Amino acid sequence: MHGIHRTILNRLLAAWVVVSLLTGAAVSWMGVSRIDGQLVALATTELLKTATASLPLLDRAESERNALNQLAADFVRHHAVAVEFRDRNRNKVAAAVNPLHADLDQNLRTQAYSFPADDDRHFKKLTAEGQTVLRILVPVKESAGGIAGYFEGTFLIDQETVGRLRHEMIVTLLVVLFAVTLTTICLYPVILSLNRDVMRYSNDLLKGNVELMEVLGSAIAKRDAATNIHNYRVASYAVRLAEKVGLKHGEIRDLIAGAFLHDVGKIGISDNILLKPGPLDADEFEIMRTHVTLGVDIIRKSDWLQNARDVVEFHHEKFDGSGYIRGLAGEAIPVTARIFAIVDVFDALTSKRPYKEAFPFAQAMTILQQSAGTHFDPRLATAFAGIAEGLFREVSNTPDEAVELRLQALITKYFFARR
Ligand SMILES: [Fe+2]
Ligand SMILES: [Fe+2]
Repeated sequence: MHGIHRTILNRLLAAWVVVSLLTGAAVSWMGVSRIDGQLVALATTELLKTATASLPLLDRAESERNALNQLAADFVRHHAVAVEFRDRNRNKVAAAVNPLHADLDQNLRTQAYSFPADDDRHFKKLTAEGQTVLRILVPVKESAGGIAGYFEGTFLIDQETVGRLRHEMIVTLLVVLFAVTLTTICLYPVILSLNRDVMRYSNDLLKGNVELMEVLGSAIAKRDAATNIHNYRVASYAVRLAEKVGLKHGEIRDLIAGAFLHDVGKIGISDNILLKPGPLDADEFEIMRTHVTLGVDIIRKSDWLQNARDVVEFHHEKFDGSGYIRGLAGEAIPVTARIFAIVDVFDALTSKRPYKEAFPFAQAMTILQQSAGTHFDPRLATAFAGIAEGLFREVSNTPDEAVELRLQALITKYFFARR
């Protein structure tokens, strides 16, 4: 499975889990509230009937309390665990406990309880002996609107009703989860197709940038060495050395861009200096050095080409600090520039130039080794010495077009291949 498919699937899966959990929690919460509300409604209806029947009895004489007690006893027999009547002063005037639930009632009485101070309806869910009960308080009102007394009932929650309501809640939850899952499955191909378009556009953009890198590199090569192959060779050498010393993928990409653009600033050096057949005098050399800052200036115009900046800016630095343009030393010089310095000099030594013949391989290696620790990072110079002969044989026995093709393969690997 491609990495991008895995990424999209992982994110969709994460979104599915989050949305499912949130909707599941919301549906459960609403379901539980609904169950509570329905139970209260059921119990209150019964309670209100008895409360209304009790109204004429609440204010009567002591002797009439028997009638209230009888009413309470009748009520608990059918519906409740216990009931209580209180007068308007909140004094208990009658009570009854269902003998079948006497233990439960006793257990409930051990739980903290205080009679509410206001005249609103109240309900509370309580648990005792593994059973859930509702305690509901209803103020009994006179026809004039005043409080005549209070009626409080404790109801055992009917497990059948709770089971039915719970079943409804689970069905709702499953429907919601099914809808979320279906939406997620439908979204996958849509996101995949959008992503494919984005990938195509970004690939086209990348292709344009890589072409720009090669075009700029070849523009300066046309003026300088009259051949573009130097860029391809040094890029190949640099990648192989970078792989040997374990540079990261992104660093190798920057190194390739740097190899193509390292001398791009030479576009700004006049022909009489750039193409001078003999050695440069001090003033001319001073001008020649400015190709580094000119190069940095040219690539500044493009964010993408900035990746090449370390090599462009520091490829003439030396490990002992005696190079230019900043005189950096040791590991203060970016590793890509330290690698590039070695392969750039190696290719210059082993290539024929208008002013010199190509040095034999062994002589070029001797020169490199002599400069290890002064011009070059000794660790990298040693690593290069280990692979140089094979690389050189490979490149010198290969036509320029094939060298270019091989580098194109490396460009594909480091710039375009999905990892
Ligand atoms: Fe240079
Ligand atoms: Fe070069």
